[in-house]
Amino acid sequence: MPRHPQFSSSLASIEASVFSSLIHRLAEHEGETYPFHVGDTWLEPAEGCRMQDLRVEDHPGMHRYAPPRGLPPLLQALARRVATRSGVPTEPGDVLVTAGATGGLAAVVGAVVQPGEQVLVLAPYWPLITGIVRCFHAEPVAVPLIGEADSAEGAVELVRRKLTARTAALYLSTPNNPTGRILPPDWVAALVDWASSNGLWVISDDVYEDCVFEGEHTYCRSLAPERTFSAHSFSKAFGMAGNRCGYVVGPDRFVEQLGKVSIHSFYSTPTASQLAALRALDGRGDAWIADVRERYRQMAIRAAERLGVPRPEGSTFLFIDVADRLDEARSGRLPERLRRAGAARRAGHELRALPHARPRLLHLCPARRRPARYRHPGRSTGSLTLTASGCGRRRSTRRPPRRSCCTRRPGIAGRRSALGPVPTRTAPGPRGSPRP
Ligand SMILES: Cc1ncc(COP(=O)(O)O)c(C=O)c1O
Repeated sequence: MPRHPQFSSSLASIEASVFSSLIHRLAEHEGETYPFHVGDTWLEPAEGCRMQDLRVEDHPGMHRYAPPRGLPPLLQALARRVATRSGVPTEPGDVLVTAGATGGLAAVVGAVVQPGEQVLVLAPYWPLITGIVRCFHAEPVAVPLIGEADSAEGAVELVRRKLTARTAALYLSTPNNPTGRILPPDWVAALVDWASSNGLWVISDDVYEDCVFEGEHTYCRSLAPERTFSAHSFSKAFGMAGNRCGYVVGPDRFVEQLGKVSIHSFYSTPTASQLAALRALDGRGDAWIADVRERYRQMAIRAAERLGVPRPEGSTFLFIDVADRLDEARSGRLPERLRRAGAARRAGHELRALPHARPRLLHLCPARRRPARYRHPGRSTGSLTLTASGCGRRRSTRRPPRRSCCTRRPGIAGRRSALGPVPTRTAPGPRGSPRP
């Protein structure tokens, strides 16, 4: 007798769409709403790196499967790039090309985290990471950190408090989505050191590595290559989100294991998107991002100045502490102020819809060009706002906005994952040479 149709219990805690609850509220909203985005860009990729530039005559087989770990020339180019940036010797075997960084992070979690184990997630965080952890029947544990800690020691103290015998990994993203903050190098070093001394994996989300406006990006992999998996994305760096191409980098014998997860979930990353990625790595992509970064930065500055809030340091987001304006927000005046500033908004009770954010944080996007309208079923038009990599032209003020819508802690030391024993501190300390 087949089981009565039921879904995995892990799914109960995952929303079908991170922002689906907002869509329904927006559908009922009578006033004006403003466009939100999902961290995509309105720009096309660099010329020569677009789908229209790929021809079967030049790339016979471009509609066939790619090798599951990635096209060899792309793996080589990525290994060179990562080695140069991180300072860690990197071979093509240390790289896995994935269906976006999302696919890469899923492969990492699926490979190194056992069902029932916990992943510490520095908060606020990119919302999909917790769903990814849950998909593998593990538990994300949010560690509010940005806006809470004021020193490297403070940051370590916050993660230390959440450590349990089930903790398997620490996830961090810098430049950060959604706060637009860059974790200072000494914080990253202290957190990676702490993870190392507790035998944890480090899952380093580096997708905004090219979107640094102030300060510098710290590669966790440079600090503890033996236990770090870094996730990277052609979506963010080169405006190719729709191509679904990203990659993860880690110690090669472990990357081979990650491939077991990726091969059984998406098999290989689309061949054409890998060819486009390879083109972007020949210098055209870097020229593109240099230009775009400046445009993002200018827009971020403009949005921050108009709102009277600190400038974001990187990524494509603007996140605001509105603790002292909560009354304004509750009374509805804050959205109006934001509207006047031309910014997309998420305010009022919707703040609480962010599971990882304290209700005093407001998540904005410095949107610029009017984004494509979002059509909600049953409504004439609608626009939904989340975040954006917008910059540049300001919306005309004459036109009304569119209405619409393991140190060997007991319990951890002997733990095994799909990859074998979790790394312990035995071999190098945080800055040592690769190995577990
Ligand atoms: C912090 C962070 N990590 C990972 C991703 C996923 O990127 P990709 O499009 O490569 O899957 C995103 C996308 O918004 C992100 O913001």
